Amino acid sequence: MASIVVTGTQWGDEGKGKVVDLLSEYAHLVVRFQGGNNAGHTLVVNGREFISHLVPSGILQGKTCLIGNGVVVDPAVLTEEMEGLRNRGIEVNPDNFMISRQAHLIMPYHRAIDAAREKSRGNEKIGTTGRGIGPCYEDKVARHGLRFIDMLDREEFREKLLHRVSEANACLCNMFAANTLDAEAIAAEYKKYADLLAPYIANVSAKIVEARTSGRRVLFEGAQGTYLDVDHGTYPFVTSSNTVAGSACCGAGIGPTHIDGVLGIVKAYTTRVGEGPFPTELFDETGDFFQKKGNEFGATTGRKRRCGWLDAVMLKTAARLNGLTSLAITKLDVMTGLPEINVCTGYRHQGETVDDFPADLTMLSECTPVYERLPGWKEEISAARSLADLPQNARNYINRIETLSGVPVDLISVGPGRDQTIVVKKIFY
Ligand code: GDP
Ligand code: IMO
Ligand code: MG
Repeated sequence: MASIVVTGTQWGDEGKGKVVDLLSEYAHLVVRFQGGNNAGHTLVVNGREFISHLVPSGILQGKTCLIGNGVVVDPAVLTEEMEGLRNRGIEVNPDNFMISRQAHLIMPYHRAIDAAREKSRGNEKIGTTGRGIGPCYEDKVARHGLRFIDMLDREEFREKLLHRVSEANACLCNMFAANTLDAEAIAAEYKKYADLLAPYIANVSAKIVEARTSGRRVLFEGAQGTYLDVDHGTYPFVTSSNTVAGSACCGAGIGPTHIDGVLGIVKAYTTRVGEGPFPTELFDETGDFFQKKGNEFGATTGRKRRCGWLDAVMLKTAARLNGLTSLAITKLDVMTGLPEINVCTGYRHQGETVDDFPADLTMLSECTPVYERLPGWKEEISAARSLADLPQNARNYINRIETLSGVPVDLISVGPGRDQTIVVKKIFY
């Protein structure tokens, strides 16, 4: 396979960053195609931890990293992240890092509107990351967003920016009774970013197709997860982009014929940050066990992640929505020590069995999970490097996930480190 999309199958934080870092060894290009710095991807290499919000996870393997047009970019966060990488000895220059000229800019008023709208929602809040993601995508669709390409003409950019700040100020003041922003200060700040980032602005679509045509491998790094997708997720408790694998096409500027495979990342249990339904959520000591042992805190906001059992209804539906060709199971090591493991194989709803994830949140809230019980294991598995190193019960759990999802498991992660991985089958060759 020469080009693969890595996608989350749950509510994000499945371990996409770790897997992308690992697979980047075999890739020439690594591309982000949606979302923004709401993402937090943690990589652990030789005991050093890196958290990336915008720069694709291939940067640590020295690969060329691209930010596609579908990503919304906060230049304050991006320039800080680039600087942080350089301070840790990682090369980031216009030869190995490029940003699509059509990518939209997150502006300070997007963050302010995100915060004000969440506040005004009260108990109905979404629990966003507060990074301005939703308002930036709103402006994009409303056709008055600011893009990287706009920054190239400094004078015109300044005019557009001043106009947009005055509109945003009217919204902040009149709709939310929130503080307004200083347009001149924002113009000065963004002029600085234009100077810093202009050399990185590129035609990302052409770069990818060029690479593909000359036989190079491309890895597409998804952010968030299937159930945070604006169309297919638990709307309105979702993010504002399409997170499913198909989004790689629009968000990077390529056709579907340029994608050869889709790797779905599945955490061995389920987590969610923010509000919204979660059928297999646990409020007991097993939930605490996952939260503590799995160190389940959001990499972006530091919030505690809600935890629950693996949900095969979600997984099976995610297989369809993404066209998954294989799975990577992560955090299997966290399951060690549980006497028994539950897997949700269906929901009960008004006396009927449901085996496709409901789109209707009222129906979803009335669903009770049907669990299948599997025996757990006690052996530490973080040093396992082949299937044979795993206890039989852990292998049974993996087999069951394959059967329930209908997708083969090609990778198993047994710890945060790059090396703590069982490669069942080569995905990228
Ligand atoms: P992403 O957003 O999908 O990239 O996932 P995050 O990085 O937000 O969250 C996954 C967390 O689990 C990170 O802290 C990883 O270092 C960690 N992690 C990834 N795979 C494993 C694993 O197999 N075992 C353990 N214990 N931790 C893992
Ligand atoms: P990665 O890439 C987990 C969640 C937020 C909130 C909802 C909307 O690390 O898996 P937004 O700020 O996007 O408008 O928030 O989406 N969310 C994530 N949850 N992992 C993520 O990214 C997330 N990105 C957004 O918590 O519930
Ligand atoms: Mg994350």
